[in-house]
Amino acid sequence: MVSIDKDRLKNTFETYSEIGRTDKNGLHRLSLSKTDKKVRDQFVQDLEELGLEVRIDEVGNIFGRQEGADPDAAPVLIGSHLDSQPYGGRFDGQLGVLTALETLRSFADEGIDHRRPIEIVNWTNEEGSRFKPALMGSGTFADEFDVDETLSQTDSEGTTVEEALEEIGYRGDSPCKPREPIHAYFELHIEQGPVLEERDRAVGIVEGIYGMSWLEVTITGDADHAGPSPMHSRRDALVAATDVVQAVRRLSNRVSDDVVTTVGEFEVEPNSINVIPSEVTFTVDVRSYDDKVVADLVERVETEVEAACSREGTTYEIEEIWRIPHTEYAEKVRTTAIEGAEAADISYQSIVGGAGHDANYLSEITNSGMLFAPSVDGKTHNEAEYTEWSDIVDAAFAYAETVERLAE
Ligand code: GLV
Ligand code: MN
Ligand code: MN
Repeated sequence: MVSIDKDRLKNTFETYSEIGRTDKNGLHRLSLSKTDKKVRDQFVQDLEELGLEVRIDEVGNIFGRQEGADPDAAPVLIGSHLDSQPYGGRFDGQLGVLTALETLRSFADEGIDHRRPIEIVNWTNEEGSRFKPALMGSGTFADEFDVDETLSQTDSEGTTVEEALEEIGYRGDSPCKPREPIHAYFELHIEQGPVLEERDRAVGIVEGIYGMSWLEVTITGDADHAGPSPMHSRRDALVAATDVVQAVRRLSNRVSDDVVTTVGEFEVEPNSINVIPSEVTFTVDVRSYDDKVVADLVERVETEVEAACSREGTTYEIEEIWRIPHTEYAEKVRTTAIEGAEAADISYQSIVGGAGHDANYLSEITNSGMLFAPSVDGKTHNEAEYTEWSDIVDAAFAYAETVERLAE
């Protein structure tokens, strides 16, 4: 039985949560910001104190390696992400990195022998809020995005990923790709939904994750004076765009039960009280476990944009900026996670997740899996995000047991 130090895990979690803590006890730690630099520095210091071999790759992913008894064995990779949403929660991502850290610390304390090397990782820009798309570091590592493409993505101010990495000193020199075959990747994350709490289960053994598409829509009308311009003559980009927002919301229950659709970003030009809006740019996020449904939804959104623009006499452009198919995690990792939950003597159930995770792209190159801890009220991407400490401790025990088995 692996015995993690729950007080140390809690203290570490509190220390990291101070870096970018908001007034409402949430977390504001956008990818590659000054605050992200601070937490990365803390992470590297903790890895070095533990005696791990630290390496930083060219897109800023941070790895720490603990050799096992057989240096030639394929390593087990564990971790998650330390970036957050704007005014997001403390548990999304961070909990997975710190549980992985506590697992390695406990293995060291207890002298737990593992044959395989274990590498802990903090992936760059999981959230996709400052720079798009999400899962950027893991997607580049898994060769879903090429390095130059990743480095040239810009934030809303026009700063590139490369500039931001250089600014905070995390443009590493290790190539962003696996150095050797990887035996397995295993990530702990909060559920971010209501299922485990409703069913009173300690952990979720994740079966798979929804597929999704991100669209960026620009609607162009004509700026004019709010006073003298007669109503019939107007080409108002905002009127067309808000029609689409309503339609996107209604689409979700017309297609299938598991479909979710969201407009999350919205910008109006020139955004002046007495000017008819000339241009609106907004995003659409559509998700389902069924990839055909995602494709169908994308077409339906396009149809709605076209209809709204033809009613208002505006023009539009739609760009699909990201598409990721649904993910099914490796049976071998799921079975090992069940053994881990049983060894920790906690309840579990199989579960499908709606949020994107780095484990999705890792599953393209290795056996991947995830363990979910319950989220209070299922709330996330919100400062009120919360998971009970007793639930974290249960999940951390099951996680460590699983990692030990994966690393033999
Ligand atoms: C990442 O958090 C996503 O699911 O969009
Ligand atoms: Mn996350
Ligand atoms: Mn998130």
